[in-house]
Amino acid sequence: MKTGSMILAFCSLTLGLATVSPGQTRITVQVDQPGAAIRPTMWGVFFEDINFGADGGLYAELVKNRSFEFPDNIMGWSRILRSGSEGYIYIERYPQEQTNAHFLRMKVGKTGQGFGVSNGGFRGMGIQEGKDYRFSVQARLTEGGPMALRIELAGQGRRPLAEAKLEGFTSQWQKHTVVLRAGSTDARARLNLLVEGSGTLDLDMVSLFPVDTWKGREGGLRADLVQMLADLKPGFLRFPGGCIVEGRTLDERYQWKTTIGDPADRKLIVNRWNTEFNHRLTPDYYQSFGVGFYEYFLLSKDLGAEPMPIINCGMACQFNTGELAPMDELDPYVQDALDLIEFANGPADRGWGRRRAEMGHPEPFGLKLLGIGNEQWGPQYIERYKVFAKAIKDKYPDVQLIAATGSDATIFPNGPQEIEYLWSQFRKLKADIVDEHFYRRADWFLDNAHLYDDYPRDGSEVFVGEYGAQSIGVASPDNRNNWHTALAEAAFMTGLERNADLVTMSCYAPLFCHVDGWQWRPDLIWFDNLRVFGTPNYYVQKLFSLNRGDRVLPVAVAEPATTPDGKARFYASSVYDETSNEMILKVVNATGEPVRAIIQTKGAKAVGLQANVTVLASDDLNDENSFEAPRKIAPVESRIPLRSGEFRHDFRPYSMTIVRLMCQSR
Ligand code: AHR
Repeated sequence: MKTGSMILAFCSLTLGLATVSPGQTRITVQVDQPGAAIRPTMWGVFFEDINFGADGGLYAELVKNRSFEFPDNIMGWSRILRSGSEGYIYIERYPQEQTNAHFLRMKVGKTGQGFGVSNGGFRGMGIQEGKDYRFSVQARLTEGGPMALRIELAGQGRRPLAEAKLEGFTSQWQKHTVVLRAGSTDARARLNLLVEGSGTLDLDMVSLFPVDTWKGREGGLRADLVQMLADLKPGFLRFPGGCIVEGRTLDERYQWKTTIGDPADRKLIVNRWNTEFNHRLTPDYYQSFGVGFYEYFLLSKDLGAEPMPIINCGMACQFNTGELAPMDELDPYVQDALDLIEFANGPADRGWGRRRAEMGHPEPFGLKLLGIGNEQWGPQYIERYKVFAKAIKDKYPDVQLIAATGSDATIFPNGPQEIEYLWSQFRKLKADIVDEHFYRRADWFLDNAHLYDDYPRDGSEVFVGEYGAQSIGVASPDNRNNWHTALAEAAFMTGLERNADLVTMSCYAPLFCHVDGWQWRPDLIWFDNLRVFGTPNYYVQKLFSLNRGDRVLPVAVAEPATTPDGKARFYASSVYDETSNEMILKVVNATGEPVRAIIQTKGAKAVGLQANVTVLASDDLNDENSFEAPRKIAPVESRIPLRSGEFRHDFRPYSMTIVRLMCQSR
């Protein structure tokens, strides 16, 4: 530890002691006994295309059904037939077999006041004043002409938000591009394509993107949404799901190879969340794979997060059909997994590594973690897991495999017994990492902050791969991201941190949610077509991640504060940051009363003269953040002066507090 430039108060812990009153809460941190290493992967994020997470969200494409490949090929589009115009539109097929099989044909007799087509985007299109939007289309003129296309971004007002014109169509398919600058803002704009001239014009891959995407990549990701992830500094990115990995049937499973290469050739499939919940039917939800595996790897790299793909293991979603690939037909599934590792890590001059290089990334992505299935259970899973594990470990012994333990034990058939069975198998198999999911009421998280204290430590690490406190019930449409749920998660996370020798990774689920396009709540980050805000749960995740530290420090809480019914609702965990030489203490006071506690840093030879304190709190457990008040519950920082390594601190009712204190151990 460097001491030269730091102001340290060398303290004898017998001096300046805070007086301890009977019954007073005491938090003792053993600074000179650093324990398990906290992995860089401890706090990560889990991305799934649910709630318009990718299409309509992270993927900045504003046109829905741009390639006319939805099963209802015209879904999302409507005809514009203004006074005096004559013509019709219909869907045509390319003569040759191809992934993008359909296109739109417009036969125009008279344009009158306007003839064309209109697209309403994903619950409207978010258009911002002064921003540029890149429109592109594949088009050809098959009859008549000359014809032109007037592109209009239409808002609620009479005047378009932006206009442009494309001309020069020929009998050959060609890509035409124009950039439009928006004169005003509208969260629910439409794209109108109005034809000039008479004849037949064919259109395909009709696209509109903001020019300002994340890192300015053309056809890229929504910058504001990625920024929210970047601010979390996640240790890993788990993708692409979730149940969408499994699909309702095996045909509808996620197949990474169909999600790379030219976006126009990526095979669209239904999104499994499309009609999953009767209470939130979303029949226009499809996966365009504009965000595919290449983009996920790139995003992981941008975020400084370990990529963690999850692959289908020959099992469709067991909450749906549970369709199984027979054991003697598993080879293609296993080969997909092996090829994926080659795509991520292989040399740039051959095989799947070459495909990666052709897409623009010759350097390997450094894949180290791979999930075998999402929420699978039963002996059928174990049989399949073994085949995958053998094949992958034989070829890539360094890739760590993640095994599933079904879903939350309370929601799948015979959950607790199944989980016990799966664990017993994984112990025999010496599985690297075992994934557990929790979607429970807030009180369960408060009651289970010590869940992992007594877990067997016999080889496999634990990944808490999905969790979120449900204010009403699992995936209830009435669930709220209120302060109660966030505080309960914070309490639970102190338990994850204290057990970092066993729990090496964790992430909240689901991640994103479009305010008009969701299926599942609660969710970490809410957005509409123009705005985004972090829930209180988001700030809890962020505080843990930004205060990750390197080693667990032992913490004891004496006389923890209790609720009126006698439940201990006061939690603490601590880590040491070896770069900044700080002890980081995390405290959750889940009682409705202020708690005056004594903090003792035991084994410290010297401490800083002040501590940095960050508090996340609200007096009302029902409080939430919103577009109107996005930081109603957000971290507030302050500094407190110190005279010694033992001091008193008042913890607010219903609060999470981080204390960072320069500390040198004996
Ligand atoms: O996070 C939402 C869903 O919950 C995930 O897709 C699935 O793994 C779990 O059941």
